[in-house]
Amino acid sequence: MADRVITLSINGAERQIDNDPRQLLVDVVREHLDLKATHIGCLSGDCGACSVIVDGEVRKSCLSLAVSMEGAAVRTLDGWVDDVLVRLQSAFISTNAFQCGFCTSGMLMAAYDLLRRNPCPDTLEIRKAISGNLCRCTGYEPIIQAIQQAIEK
Ligand code: FES
Ligand code: FES
Repeated sequence: MADRVITLSINGAERQIDNDPRQLLVDVVREHLDLKATHIGCLSGDCGACSVIVDGEVRKSCLSLAVSMEGAAVRTLDGWVDDVLVRLQSAFISTNAFQCGFCTSGMLMAAYDLLRRNPCPDTLEIRKAISGNLCRCTGYEPIIQAIQQAIEK
């Protein structure tokens, strides 16, 4: 299949990408752009490790074709400074909300999306927001505590 050039914004910088129309967003992010904070776990939409922010909303990048991102603004954890994200990252560290860290960037994307939409979520809302993200080693309580700690008082 012929390649197609798409133009999108990645972490605030406009990029043109020549890609196979069958290519997934997660592969463009990781392989074309070398942004390795976005992980691949299942490639089937189940684990959330590949979560990124697209036009302000969290999205699993293994479920999106890159070609559908024409004109979109994509944010990954790499090279992104934002008050909400910095609060979340600090809280994840201080509550030991990760062990191997494989799920962490996806968890941070889901938590970021939640706090942008709802700056003061309750525990149930936090649980729901990260329900599409799997963690195999930390357990979810420290992650929930981290998100609670990141809520601006
Ligand atoms: Fe995308 Fe698991 S790699 S949800
Ligand atoms: Fe290891 Fe979540 S910290 S999978």
